[in-house]
Amino acid sequence: MSRFMEWVDARFPATKVWQEHMAQYYAPKNFNFWYYFGSLAILVLVIQILTGIFLTMHYKPDSQLAFASVEYIMRDVPWGWFIRYMHSTGASLFFVVVYLHMFRALLYGSFKGPRELVWLIGMVIFVALMAEAFMGYLLPWGNMSYWGAQVIISLFGAIPVIGDGLAEWIRGDFVVSDATLNRFFAFHVILLPLLLVLLVYLHIVALHKVGSNNPDGVEIKKHKDGEGRPLDGIPFHPYYTVKDLFGAMVFLVIYFAIVFFVPEFGGWFLEKDNFAPADILQTPPDIVPLWYFTPFYSILRAVTWEWLPGGAKLWGVIAMGASIAMLFLLPWLDRARVRSIRYRGWMYKTALAIFVVAFVILGYLGTKNPTRIDLFAFQNVYWAQVCMILYFLFFLLMPWYTSRDATKPEPDRVTH
Ligand code: HEM
Repeated sequence: MSRFMEWVDARFPATKVWQEHMAQYYAPKNFNFWYYFGSLAILVLVIQILTGIFLTMHYKPDSQLAFASVEYIMRDVPWGWFIRYMHSTGASLFFVVVYLHMFRALLYGSFKGPRELVWLIGMVIFVALMAEAFMGYLLPWGNMSYWGAQVIISLFGAIPVIGDGLAEWIRGDFVVSDATLNRFFAFHVILLPLLLVLLVYLHIVALHKVGSNNPDGVEIKKHKDGEGRPLDGIPFHPYYTVKDLFGAMVFLVIYFAIVFFVPEFGGWFLEKDNFAPADILQTPPDIVPLWYFTPFYSILRAVTWEWLPGGAKLWGVIAMGASIAMLFLLPWLDRARVRSIRYRGWMYKTALAIFVVAFVILGYLGTKNPTRIDLFAFQNVYWAQVCMILYFLFFLLMPWYTSRDATKPEPDRVTH
């Protein structure tokens, strides 16, 4: 084996890369629960690509055949239902994992310098992942697939002057049609997965350049032993490979419990309206995206003020875009001297708590009819407007409250 590796190493830096990024890559020794989700995101990405390959073997990207081909996979292809449920459950759990992964960054200030690029690449991943999920959702050609795509693509029509032309160019037709299905298939199975894999690679290269943050938010590179190893660091392999393996096992138990027992997850992972084929003459009573888009969808629908120049629809689209754009700016909005929530003052803690509650309520409201009264005496849309304002205030006031927050002194070394 060692002679074989010598042969390889003379031609390819296999051992060097393994040492640099695994066996001699020093990660902070105080990683906790929140640090599972990066490796879990890699696991889900691999699951999605593998199950996707098998689905593609029987799926037909043709508006006349797509819906029936998915039913064929579910009923006739041996283990087809299993592969399909793995893929649909995987899509939702991908967002669960990624949202928790992003929340960790908010808890421990992981987006702050020197990790701005890790965060920015992460945000590009997030946008690519949303595009990937959106396009994948059209493929079964169910009625919600069809109308969801119709609504979201028509949003481009709100852009002044070029809007209508742009929406038509994206669809390749005047309405969502076979042309749209074909190009979404191409993007969903080739372009975006390639892009995601490349971006994840860049994400990790950027992370390994600066090193991981940790729950204390202190820089472990400040204190090194005589051989240049961080005193508060431990080799990624075997310590964190074993820890991540444990995380993966727990994750897989939950994942397969859903796949086997509740794959539709009460309509949250697979919607009822999508078990009927696309019908251009029948709009579903409520057009609702899957849960992971609903916070942003709520913001889109919360802007109802027609008196705004250009109309409410345009500003709804702008607000939805801005709600994602704000996240990109986090490293520059946060002025706190400390990273971790452990040493921040009450202002950031309160702001983060309000932000999370507003985000969850927006997500809930996005699944409901805006004019109905589901919470107390107000129509859903009014609650959405309140939560939208709170969502934006978290970002817009951040430079102010993070610079005056009474932070506690950060320890010099990690606490355990
Ligand atoms: C396919 C999706 C993603 C994959 C596979 C992925 C993978 C990883 C991995 C393996 C790590 C190191 C382990 C860890 O810290 O948990 C990491 C760290 C990190 N990721 Fe991601 N990530 C993804 C998406 C994102 C997104 C959407 C964001 C934010 C917008 C993000 C922001 C970060 C940050 C800030 C760190 C450093 C955390 C720290 O050191 O405290 N990632 N990512």
